[in-house]
Parts: sequence; C-alpha cells; structure tokens
Amino acid sequence: MNDVHLITITVNGRPSEVAVEARRTLADVLRHDLGYTGTHVGCEHGICGACTVILDGEPVRSCLIFGVQADDATVETVEGLAGDDGLDALQESFSEQHALQCGFCTPGFLMLATALLRANPEPTDDEIRDAVASNLCRCTGYQPILAAVRQAADRAASPDTAGSEGNGWGVWEPHVDVPREAEQPGGQ
Ligand code: FES
Ligand code: FES
Repeated sequence: MNDVHLITITVNGRPSEVAVEARRTLADVLRHDLGYTGTHVGCEHGICGACTVILDGEPVRSCLIFGVQADDATVETVEGLAGDDGLDALQESFSEQHALQCGFCTPGFLMLATALLRANPEPTDDEIRDAVASNLCRCTGYQPILAAVRQAADRAASPDTAGSEGNGWGVWEPHVDVPREAEQPGGQ
C-alpha cells in the first residue's frame, strides 16, 4: 500500500490540497499533480538546476525535495513571473539578450535570478556570476545569461531611463567579458 499524505501547498498564490505519495519529489508534485510543467527536470539529482523554484522565498532544487516537505509552503514557479501586462523584467532581458536557445534550462535560471535580485537588487558582476554558476546550460555559453541578469538589475536600478530611446539599451554592452570576434580564429 502506498504511503500517501494530504498536503496543502500554495503555488503562485493559488492554494491547493494534494494527495502525495511520500516518495514523490516536489518537482513531480508541481509537474504531474498540479500541472506546472514550466518547472523542468533534467538530471534529477541536484546537479543541473533546471528544476529550480522558489520555496518560501529561497531558490531550491525541486528534484531534491519531497513533496511532503512542502506541506504548508509557498512555492513560486516560472508560470508566476509573467503578468497580465506581459513578461516580467527579467524575462524581457532574457529575450533581448538572447539568453536562451533550446530553453530547457531557462525556467531554472529565471527563478534563480529572481531570487538573487530580490535578495540583492544591485549585484556586482561577480555576484551574478557566482549566483548563476549553480545551474547548467548546454546551449548559450552562459554570457548572454549573465548579460540578461545584469541588464535587468541595471534597469531596476534606473527605472526612469529603462526602455527609453537613446539610452543605449539597443546597443547595451554587458559588464561581463564577452569574447570579441577579433579574438576568434580568423576574426569571424
Ligand atoms: S533536475 Fe533538479 S537539479 Fe537537475
Ligand atoms: S538554452 Fe538550452 S540548455 Fe540552456
């Protein structure tokens, strides 16, 4: 007989009661029991960070937490970022900086960076690099992800100029060291 527990969990502001097998991870509860499939599962053992969500204010790997541990907890997933008026500021920066290709890692990076910018709204480049180093991306080479988080932080710090014409966002230069074409063989 399965060991099933009734838990109460609030996801993106919506409370739910779920009957959860004790062996089930939080990632499984979110994806399979509640339908929040934006939380991706890659390695399933705490390495890749694709499953990152915010649990009671802290970024966690949801593949490493049992669903029953989230009883009475508040969870934020990638589905909670965008509002009625569109993408949130971090999602906009990811789009503009081309910080995703296949997109599999993106929900995890977005939740990780969301938690970072809440805790530290004006991070240094090193702090951004240190924070996102915990997650893996197979596609982007990471620099666009660093640039996107930098841009979102800078825009939040200067809301009066963000998005206005002529402020340089269109030719925004990341603070991180992006290899230049001239440094590549043949300069191509
Ligand atoms: S799926 Fe959770 S860390 Fe990789
Ligand atoms: S965009 Fe493909 S794994 Fe990151």
